[in-house]
Amino acid sequence: MTTTRVFHRQLRHDLPVAVSGQGITLTDAQGKTYLDASGGAAVSCLGHSHPDVLAAMHAQLDRLAYAHTSFFTTEVAEELASALIDHAPAGMSHAYFVSGGSEAVEAALKMARQYFVEIGQPQRRHFIARRQSYHGNTLGALAVGGNAWRREQFKPLLIDVTHVAPCYEYRERRDDETPERYGQRLVAELEEAIERLGPDSVMAFVAETVGGATAGVLAPVPGYFKGVREVCDRHGILLILDEVMCGMGRTGTLHACEQEGVVPDLLTIAKGLGGGYQPIGAVLAQGRLVDAFRRGSGLFQHGHTYLGHAVACAAALAVQRVIERDGLLAQVRERGALLHQLLQRAFGDHPHVGDIRGRGLFWGIELVADRASKQWFDPAHKLHASIKSKAMANGVLVYPMGGTVDGRSGDHVLLAPPFISTPDELRQIVDRLADAVDLAVSMADAKVAS
Ligand SMILES: Cc1ncc(COP(=O)(O)O)c(C=O)c1O
Repeated sequence: MTTTRVFHRQLRHDLPVAVSGQGITLTDAQGKTYLDASGGAAVSCLGHSHPDVLAAMHAQLDRLAYAHTSFFTTEVAEELASALIDHAPAGMSHAYFVSGGSEAVEAALKMARQYFVEIGQPQRRHFIARRQSYHGNTLGALAVGGNAWRREQFKPLLIDVTHVAPCYEYRERRDDETPERYGQRLVAELEEAIERLGPDSVMAFVAETVGGATAGVLAPVPGYFKGVREVCDRHGILLILDEVMCGMGRTGTLHACEQEGVVPDLLTIAKGLGGGYQPIGAVLAQGRLVDAFRRGSGLFQHGHTYLGHAVACAAALAVQRVIERDGLLAQVRERGALLHQLLQRAFGDHPHVGDIRGRGLFWGIELVADRASKQWFDPAHKLHASIKSKAMANGVLVYPMGGTVDGRSGDHVLLAPPFISTPDELRQIVDRLADAVDLAVSMADAKVAS
């Protein structure tokens, strides 16, 4: 171990030092290059060192880096909010800027609570969310999140949240169910949870439109979110969609909920908003909610020092302008179809890949010890960690995770390459990943045999 004063995520192994990034390639201090096939954690939608984004950030720095939001607004924050609202789902009227995904979720949870206080329903105090979800690591976001492993040791600190089933078709749809019927069963389970808690005590249902980090890209079945929206409306409950990972173009439409034909009350966005050029997230809010705040107390009782940071807003505005100018949403759909084909070719008949799932440039592959029974690998093998390190050695960055099935068992690999990835780069990504998966599973198989 080399000496470091950084309190890293992992304290028992050394990390390579990243020194530069260009396009979809990162380079470390040894000169080794890596294709960034996960954009970090579905962040770097424009890759690295995009000249238009850098120029916008430099220009903003030369004018103004920071002004506190209790004294001032800035032109760039106003412009970004207008641009986001112009393309937001129907009825959204305002953007609340924060510095990342967890902060966006925290703000949305508190907005929901204060909204009900403002409209004279202070008895509403419960959130319902889903198992096998991820909403961030701050205490409120962790509480609504449904990852058993992440929550375990912090449980005594977490607010009580009711968790219902995720939309996890590969494992949880019964053989005798159509996808639509499966979705209806899940909606019925949500409604039962609402009835159990008392419908007028529930504030909101919180869900990732397309599940991301915990279970490896879970796309909803047809009609599921329409059913959810209808149940929420019937009981006066807000729908908070968390698109921190799956939003801002990642699935081929600017917002993932567009493909579901539903409009949330609050929508959280972050990673692809600033593309990693600056830390930024936002909550997009329905006009009806904002009006309630305006008519009521006149303030949202929340805030952080770096809300609406000018350089972060400039970076996000530039990222979003490039996506629009260069027609990158269409490119995500087209390259996404290619990536799906390539994954299908590499892993479609693989004895240890049970499922290949995703949308746009957002894909997950779920690893299994046995395809027929869908039995997972022994978690002790840490297959996901082995794939990650072998892929890195092979010069490709992917985002594998364990706990796919229930927070403890199962492994998947998440891919979220930049929107600018070329067909050739996508081919290299899949080839390098396939080698890493083969090596990692053969070592896990050997451990089972010995
Ligand atoms: C859906 C979702 N919500 C919230 C978060 C938390 O975002 P951050 O890590 O920026 O706090 C993440 C991060 O992966 C996420 O995927």
